[in-house]
Amino acid sequence: MINKDNLIFMAENAAENAYAPYSNFNVGACILCEDGEIFTGFNIENSSYGATVCAERVALFNAVSQGNTNFTAMAVTSMPCGICLQTLSEFCKPDFKIIVKSDFGEYEEFSMSELLPYPFDKGDNF
Ligand code: THU
Repeated sequence: MINKDNLIFMAENAAENAYAPYSNFNVGACILCEDGEIFTGFNIENSSYGATVCAERVALFNAVSQGNTNFTAMAVTSMPCGICLQTLSEFCKPDFKIIVKSDFGEYEEFSMSELLPYPFDKGDNF
């Protein structure tokens, strides 16, 4: 079962450690694996700007690098960008829950398919 409050709490906590000296916009993310394990991430910026990695991808890669490929939900302290949604779509099913912080500071829940209805996937790859 998804403990939404816990995921949000862990994402908010992760944001505190963000490395964001250029934008000063700290983002935290927390991803829940199907087996209940939880991984966090925060944005890691780079002086080249383009090499910056968002919190969502850091959390996802943290989990994947530990052998996890099945996920239930993510909480993130921002609205995910298109690159992160595409990256998440590699592993996350259309009903994967994405809990995001709105501009008004409140959390709203979406499904993967609501935020990225038409991902580029294996079927599009030749
Ligand atoms: N960022 C994230 O980490 N996740 C998002 O969902 C949106 C943007 C980061 C990238 C960059 O370090 C900073 O926020 C400003 O765009």
